Amino acid sequence: MRKQRLWIAAVLLAVVPLAPRAAEIVSAELVGPESCKACHPDAYSAWRLSKHSRAIDSLSAQQRNDARCLSCHAPDLRTRNVSSVSCESCHGGGQYYAIDYVMKDAELSRLVGLADPSEKDCRSCHDASSPSLRPFDFVEKLKLIDHWTQERARRAAASEPAPAPAPKK
Ligand code: HEC
Ligand code: HEC
Ligand code: HEC
Ligand code: HEC
Repeated sequence: MRKQRLWIAAVLLAVVPLAPRAAEIVSAELVGPESCKACHPDAYSAWRLSKHSRAIDSLSAQQRNDARCLSCHAPDLRTRNVSSVSCESCHGGGQYYAIDYVMKDAELSRLVGLADPSEKDCRSCHDASSPSLRPFDFVEKLKLIDHWTQERARRAAASEPAPAPAPKK
């Protein structure tokens, strides 16, 4: 198993140019939020309800051509044709990690582009130049985009040992 994993990593790394940070792997294409949906239905629905999924809607037709607005409201629209603030705006392009056997391996996923979004990443958009009246409170704002509690609950339930069969009478 370990051997197979190393082999997979070697192949993937041969095609992915190494970067100091996984998120900087520029060649990893975006697969789009619909591709994450099948395996992460709970995360997807929570994101759908969040403002991030509709960030492009806050821009007028003219502003949708303005790179100054797109940089936060749809950072991947022009280069990769994915709109609004999508899964991969935060988690990194999924071309190499959004595959079942890679995703199940936390280490391998990160080697090939899965990013762990940090407070610093939020602040790259939620900064002094965004229109909020109040300063960005990371802990509070993180709660408002929760799309992991249900994901983790589902996973915990799935990994629970099956109940012992009822004794025969
Ligand atoms: C083919 C199914 C599949 C697809 C497609 C998929 N994932 Fe996953 N993902 C998984 C599995 C399986 C795990 C392991 C945890 C689990 O069982 O829920 C996982 C784990 C994760 C984790 C947690 C990783 C960790 O180690 O903490 C994140 C974040 C994640 N996926 C994001 C995404 C994003 C973003 C996309 C779309 C670009 C995506 N996934 C597409 C199956 C998938
Ligand atoms: C530095 C990142 C950034 C840039 C650049 C940016 N925005 Fe925003 N914008 C945000 C954030 C973050 C919010 C959410 C603020 C909040 O509610 O706390 C926001 C909110 C908005 C809202 C309010 C949406 C609502 O639901 O109330 C509008 C409208 C808007 N932006 C338009 C624009 C326009 C037009 C431009 C270009 C001139 C632009 N933004 C550029 C980050 C940015
Ligand atoms: C604004 C940034 C952002 C966006 C957009 C976003 N995520 Fe996340 N995601 C995060 C952060 C931050 C965490 C970790 C939260 C924590 O651990 O407290 C997370 C956690 C997760 C997890 C759980 C990881 C685990 O340990 O179980 C999954 C799965 C996931 N995201 C998938 C998605 C999918 C799928 C989408 C799009 C439908 C998406 N995310 C959109 C920032 C984002
Ligand atoms: C690529 C830029 C970008 C990143 C990265 C980003 N956001 Fe946002 N966020 C936005 C924009 C733009 C809006 C406003 C959407 C709208 O209403 O048009 C927004 C809105 C929000 C909102 C709803 C408005 C509010 O302030 O209550 C929350 C909550 C939020 N973001 C939390 C986060 C958190 C937490 C992170 C980091 C894990 C994060 N965001 C990362 C661009 C970003």
